[in-house]
Amino acid sequence: MKDLLKIFVFALVIIFGFAGYTRYGLPLIIPEAPPVEEKLSGDITMEQYIGIGDKIFNGKGTCTLCHSPVGGRAPLLDTIGSLALERLKDERYKGKATTGEEYILESLVDTSAFVVAGFGKTGTNDTVSPMPNVDKGAIGLSDVEMGAVIAYLQSIAGVEVTVALPSGDSSAMPEEEAPATIKLAESAAEAFIKFECTMCHIGPEIEEGGDMGPDLGGFAATAGSRKEGVSARAFVLESIMNPNAVIAEGFDADTMPDDYPARMTFAEFNLIADAILGVKNQ
Ligand code: HEC
Ligand code: HEC
Repeated sequence: MKDLLKIFVFALVIIFGFAGYTRYGLPLIIPEAPPVEEKLSGDITMEQYIGIGDKIFNGKGTCTLCHSPVGGRAPLLDTIGSLALERLKDERYKGKATTGEEYILESLVDTSAFVVAGFGKTGTNDTVSPMPNVDKGAIGLSDVEMGAVIAYLQSIAGVEVTVALPSGDSSAMPEEEAPATIKLAESAAEAFIKFECTMCHIGPEIEEGGDMGPDLGGFAATAGSRKEGVSARAFVLESIMNPNAVIAEGFDADTMPDDYPARMTFAEFNLIADAILGVKNQ
């Protein structure tokens, strides 16, 4: 009898597993990339430093999650190197920066010091930025890494790069890592960071998060009753795989990335769904 029950449960897992799999085409396994074994040591040139900034901007900094032509979540930054000086003259500017370089740094570590018109958090009249401070939390860029990003932004804008090269101590240099997006997440906390949920949400297993999206803390309590005939888990699946199907009140459509079906494995989805729904795993 017990065995029969086990078989039954197993069959359910398979059926619902594959139902999700076929509906959203979640890949079951994404191969791991070979680790990049490049390590910087000793003195570097400005060109190399800018190259590191490029990699951080387009990689672990997750800047392009919001600063990209797709989605329109944040202003494009290809001219910020020169635009920064205009910002300082803006009558709404209340920050402490006096140079372009300082303005960009301030935009990274004190994001609400100046909020670009039209990009503030909904309902705050452009006084609160939805961008998380990137020297803290999941991204946690070091001063040297932020310097590299600023050098990169100045260089693509075609203005003089004013950032100083990091001093001789090579231990302060950022190590090059294999792209984190390819490694399979093994816990909910890892998955939330890997898929950048922490940039926009706070909630269970997210210690520090952004607020461009709703707080997922109370989601478990309401998920099962949000949509007629749709179970809590199915609603989570839809919310992540097809975010524009239902728009949470007070938030904008087209903000949450809609490419998770192509990037998230079914196992990773399950970790995330368990955490959001408060399902305890032993
Ligand atoms: C979760 C979305 C998000 C992420 C991730 C993000 N930003 Fe932003 N960023 C914004 C938004 C929205 C604004 C506009 C509001 C404001 O001025 O703060 C902004 C503003 C800025 C500005 C000021 C732009 C201006 O025109 O004055 C800079 C510079 C900037 N971000 C750099 C970065 C860098 C570098 C990263 C990565 C290390 C990053 N951002 C990551 C959303 C984001
Ligand atoms: C760039 C910001 C952003 C990122 C990254 C992001 N979200 Fe969202 N998310 C939003 C916004 C904005 C909403 C509200 C609008 C909507 O319902 O689509 C939302 C809605 C949701 C909802 C529905 C909440 C409700 O009350 O209806 C869930 C669940 C959710 N996100 C989970 C996630 C998970 C899990 C991840 C990572 C795999 C993630 N989000 C990544 C911005 C984001």
